[in-house]
Amino acid sequence: MKGKKRFAWAMVCWACGLILISCGRNHAASEDRLYVGVAFYNQSDSYISELMNCLKEQFARMGEGDMKVTMAMRDAAGSQRTQDDQVKEMIDAGCNVLCVNLVDRTDPSTIIDMAKEKDVPIIFFNREPVSEDMMRWDRLYYVGADAKQSGVMQGELAADAIRENKRIDRNHDGKIQYVVLEGEPGHQDAIIRTENAVDTLKNQGIELEKINCGIANWNRAQAQNRMMQMIGQYQNKIELVLANNDDMALGAIDAYKKLNFTESARPVFFGIDGTDVGLRAVVDLELAGTVYNDKEGQAEAMAKLAEGLALNREMKGLKFKNKKYVFLPYKKITSDNVGGFIGKNGGRN
Ligand code: BGC
Ligand code: CA
Repeated sequence: MKGKKRFAWAMVCWACGLILISCGRNHAASEDRLYVGVAFYNQSDSYISELMNCLKEQFARMGEGDMKVTMAMRDAAGSQRTQDDQVKEMIDAGCNVLCVNLVDRTDPSTIIDMAKEKDVPIIFFNREPVSEDMMRWDRLYYVGADAKQSGVMQGELAADAIRENKRIDRNHDGKIQYVVLEGEPGHQDAIIRTENAVDTLKNQGIELEKINCGIANWNRAQAQNRMMQMIGQYQNKIELVLANNDDMALGAIDAYKKLNFTESARPVFFGIDGTDVGLRAVVDLELAGTVYNDKEGQAEAMAKLAEGLALNREMKGLKFKNKKYVFLPYKKITSDNVGGFIGKNGGRN
């Protein structure tokens, strides 16, 4: 499978090369040709890999019309140096717009300088550069979602569940003993989600007792390990697990399953994203709720923006914040409405 993929991308690059030769290395886009270079931080991230599938679909659909669309995609496998090289290669191959999911969101300088020199606009996504960097050039954009909103929604989901189900407070002390599984340190979504989920629960009058907080870098296996340690330390004291994303919530559930905790002895778990596996866990009632991180909406916005920027077209239907940012709204998911989110339409039907 990997070999096939590599071959396919080699063909795309080769085709790009041929087009370039015939265009005499002119970076200005001809009227109906879009060459997009997509760089993402790590293929092993579940959410990113699903978002990349949506983006591929968007550009493929765009290419079905009159416009010729060529897309290259590069996985930096967690290295900013690798990503810098990949972006350089795609610019040299003649891309007229870039979509960049930074490895290190505080270190976009090399990429911005290279793109600016060749006048190739950049749409950053999912890993938001700091505003000073975003101000460095007027052809820098960001597509993503508002971290605070996802935290607030997770807190609301948890508060509703706690009010509805008195058994969540297993030791009946009127407080909810909770742990947090946090994403990558420094990521705009990690701390903000945690703070807002906890604050929302408190504002809704839920008494909380924090037991522990573990960093699991968005990763299911790391979350399972962290959770195993916490269970070892606190046994059946934990009543609520707030995870910054679905993969970590699922890792926590894995830990309880591995230790053979019966369902009634487990805490309630909340995630964020609504990945395929996350949604399935909501259907199976293992995950009490999640918050939809609208990958279809983000991919659609990126594709529209890419077309508009590269071909100087009007960008219909895009709402900008501060002229540079497009934020897609999150949505709350429980077993009551999960059906509307399965089948990749973001609950839009
Ligand atoms: C998602 C995580 C993902 C991360 C990657 C976040 O917005 O919720 O699941 O791992 O982005 O940057
Ligand atoms: Ca309790």
